[in-house]
Amino acid sequence: MPPQSESCQPSIPSGPDIWKTPTPFVGRDRETAVLLDGLSSAARGEGALILLAGEAGIGKTRLCAEAVALARQRGFFAITGHCYDMQGIPPYVPFVEAIEYVARVVPRDELRQTLGDAAPEIARLVPDLRRLFPDLPPPAELPPAQGRHHLFNSLHDFVERSARVRPVLLVLEDLQWADESTLLLLQHVAQRVEEVPALVLGTYRDVELAPTAPLARCLQDLLRQRLAREFVLRPLKEADVAAILTALGGSEPPPGLISWLHGETDGNPFFVEEVVRHLQEGGRLLDAEGHWRPGGSVGHPEVPHGVRLVIEQRLQRVSEVCRRLLAAAAVVGRTFDFALLEAMSDEHGDGALVDAIDEAEKAYLIREVPRHTAATQEGSGEVPYIFVHELTRQTILAGLSLPRQQRLHRRVAEAMERTHASNLEPHLAALAVHFRQAGPMTDAEKAIDYSVRAGEAAADAFAYTEAITHWQAALELMEERAAAPERRAELLMGLGVLTYVSGVDYTKGIEYLERALQLYEDLGDREHAAWAHWLLGRDLTTYLDVADVSRALAHYRAAEPVFAAGQDELPLGHVNAGLAAAEWMAARPQEALAASRRSMEIGDRLGDGTLWAGAAIIQGAALAFNCGRLAEGLQLLRRAWALADELDEPTDAFFAAFIGGWCTFLFLRDSADAEVWFTRELARPRTAQARNPSLFLQELMRTASAIAGNLADATLGDMSRSTVALWRGDWEEQEAFWTSGRDGGLRAGNRLTEGTYSHWLARFYRARGDPVHAEEMFKAALEVGAEGRFLAFEMLERPDLALLYVEIGRFEEARAQLARCHEIMAQGEDWRGVAGRVALAEAVLAAAEGNLEAAGPRFETALDVFRRYGLPWDQAEASHLWGRAFAMAGRRYRPRALEAWDAAIEIYQRHGAGQCWIDRVEMDRKRVLGTLHPLQYPAGLSEREVEVLRLIAGGKSSREIAEALVISVRTVERHIENIYHKTGTHGRAQATAYALANRLA
Ligand SMILES: Nc1ncnc2c1ncn2[C@@H]1O[C@H](COP(=O)(O)OP(=O)(O)O)[C@@H](O)[C@H]1O
Ligand SMILES: [Mg+2]
Repeated sequence: MPPQSESCQPSIPSGPDIWKTPTPFVGRDRETAVLLDGLSSAARGEGALILLAGEAGIGKTRLCAEAVALARQRGFFAITGHCYDMQGIPPYVPFVEAIEYVARVVPRDELRQTLGDAAPEIARLVPDLRRLFPDLPPPAELPPAQGRHHLFNSLHDFVERSARVRPVLLVLEDLQWADESTLLLLQHVAQRVEEVPALVLGTYRDVELAPTAPLARCLQDLLRQRLAREFVLRPLKEADVAAILTALGGSEPPPGLISWLHGETDGNPFFVEEVVRHLQEGGRLLDAEGHWRPGGSVGHPEVPHGVRLVIEQRLQRVSEVCRRLLAAAAVVGRTFDFALLEAMSDEHGDGALVDAIDEAEKAYLIREVPRHTAATQEGSGEVPYIFVHELTRQTILAGLSLPRQQRLHRRVAEAMERTHASNLEPHLAALAVHFRQAGPMTDAEKAIDYSVRAGEAAADAFAYTEAITHWQAALELMEERAAAPERRAELLMGLGVLTYVSGVDYTKGIEYLERALQLYEDLGDREHAAWAHWLLGRDLTTYLDVADVSRALAHYRAAEPVFAAGQDELPLGHVNAGLAAAEWMAARPQEALAASRRSMEIGDRLGDGTLWAGAAIIQGAALAFNCGRLAEGLQLLRRAWALADELDEPTDAFFAAFIGGWCTFLFLRDSADAEVWFTRELARPRTAQARNPSLFLQELMRTASAIAGNLADATLGDMSRSTVALWRGDWEEQEAFWTSGRDGGLRAGNRLTEGTYSHWLARFYRARGDPVHAEEMFKAALEVGAEGRFLAFEMLERPDLALLYVEIGRFEEARAQLARCHEIMAQGEDWRGVAGRVALAEAVLAAAEGNLEAAGPRFETALDVFRRYGLPWDQAEASHLWGRAFAMAGRRYRPRALEAWDAAIEIYQRHGAGQCWIDRVEMDRKRVLGTLHPLQYPAGLSEREVEVLRLIAGGKSSREIAEALVISVRTVERHIENIYHKTGTHGRAQATAYALANRLA
């Protein structure tokens, strides 16, 4: 031993070194069987994702190591990648580690071949590949969503190609610390692993998993879609603990020791090991000959309760120099290498450092990373060290004061700069974070510079959350130091774009862009300001929560002339596409058509399919639903989707499917066709892998399905839930949702949203028997469509409004609504399910006017249409109303009435409608059979109005009536007005007289 070691005064007593051989692997028979099974399946080409959960130290890593050994015996190529409990880790780190390992052990030519054309993409994650293969072409330049998709696919292809040569075991450790990008990639891999000869094994700590952690969401998705199997590692049994002790001591330990140790550690193997080490270091377990001391350490008061406390005590026993080393290493990370520690060490000469490492290894606080699992530092040949457990590192860090940590971060950062001077690329994230975490001790310029570069590297690999974190930190530092406005503006724009692309926080994203715009305006930089305008326009029309259509229009209009004056037509095309969407939302079809046409023309000229498709969606939708040129518009929408699909362009393809499907079930009442739009897009990998778009389409799909009578499908979001609630008769649930959606549309100036929610609110009020509010909302929705702005809204509202008018005896107005429908339908377009609504309203009107002959065929038509388009609710309503028509036509039609009502009830029951729907039919039946009340009230008074009138006659005030009927006073007053109007009375006295004269009270 070198002389320096004397000064270390190692306090670990010599004695038998019980750690020379690793502890034997004990227990875990069931788990091992599952893994063996997984390996066999994988070898046959049926891959799987298995997740191992369990608390820290329970033995996840150890089980994986066993799996790796078993896999290698079976000829697998086994690789491990880790996630880390620290910032500054490059995105996708476990995959990066795995690929780095592959790059190290696989011969160059073979590697190049396996990488194939995925190489340029994979080099985004592992830049070192470019040094290995200098002739790699640059990666594809694609828009973000598509780019990420392409990257993920490339990675999948690489895994698949490797696995076809030799089956693969890929271990991904400690996913509880995984960043979002890693988890997205994991989900992508999981989607298709079934068909690949690969077993993916992931581990995570379940106890420490917050419900909001990125992993929690990912797990939910994986398990729900049955893409993964999961099992939880339980504590070791007493016999397992005994087996470990026996192996360590070479003979059977005293029984008391076993049960005490098992109880003390709850069967957590890491805890077991640490307690044994602790006792052994104190010389209390085995004597110098290696025999168990009699009685063991049963109930030894010096054993602290808790593994961290045990580690703390063990740390106390190593020398000061060793502790300093461990502190520096802990700041570096879970693994660290000698060269880096040396570069940051102020100990003179290697000797002391070597000794300290030696000592830490002996004390079993760190160990060398076994070659086969190591992803060593970019092939430097350096053997890295690793803390025996993350808990060890965490305990050391917890013992360091903040200033001490900050000093160490600065030293790590500077040492990294020196040791990796020739190739900083893979270390940008770490450098950024160490410089940032150095706090007041930092070199701020460097912290900014590395943060910007780390953010760029992350964004380049589509790891948005990570990129945003780096850039936000850079921005804060720039602001503190009042950096040049050009630099700040550029960063703000970058942040604005990333926030939009990633969907992290839209309000923030808009704020970034507004600040950038301000800076560019102050600088007089018109071109950049125009870009900021364009981005703001886009943000302000995308997400309802933050949308503001009129502000968006203003931004687009500000950008347009600047781009129109420039050479490049592309930005002008994009501005016009955005403008078209905003005009469409504002229900200004002529402007929307003009802008989308300009954009499509530019797309044609430049041969830019993406631009063309994006604009064609709006053009198609406006033609179909605003102008009522259904066939032509839908055809264009379908072409736009097909092109986006061919280009595999996720944003436009999603948007086309959304608009196409949604308009189809809403405006045409054709759920089956809507489902075609949705399922087609949902089946594409680009959508399946993108969480938000796929959830959104599924939500629309379930809404469409509820309209088509399927209430049993589990609902997903508020929209499908409220739609289901309408037919389940859960009134309370709905009003709030529809109202707040409508308010959102009003706030955002999005007329389309406003109209849609008004429509649903109107249907809800009509169903609840509140004609006053129903009328108000039908009219509000109609208002969006009025003056030829949105024919589809007219066709949607007018028939229902006509029905409502008939119900409250305002026949003249009903007629006017239907006349307009005919005018629209005379254009010869196929309005599908909605045509049935028109026929139904006509039938009801004819019946109310006493013309049952005319009503019959129209009821038939309506029912035919509803059957053809699979609309049971409409069918039931039609049967119910036809029954009423019969009942009103006199006693001889009574059997026909009862028949129709039976049919209605049967449909309601079969589809699980709420009792209130059935009751409404039952009530009519009772009236006819028991002649409960006359069915038809004089002066076209509605049932509700008669109720109100009766209460007026009873001398009740409006407030009392409101309370009795559980409606608002305002509604009561509206009813009263309608009553006066219909009965030609003025004031309560006259109304009461009327009620008495007509035997209504
Ligand atoms: N089944 C087992 N048999 C023997 N020792 C084990 C077993 N499981 C875990 N250990 C030991 O316990 C310690 C902690 O296990 P580890 O796998 O690192 O836990 P985790 O990954 O769950 O945090 C390791 O030193 C490991 O060797
Ligand atoms: Mg582990």
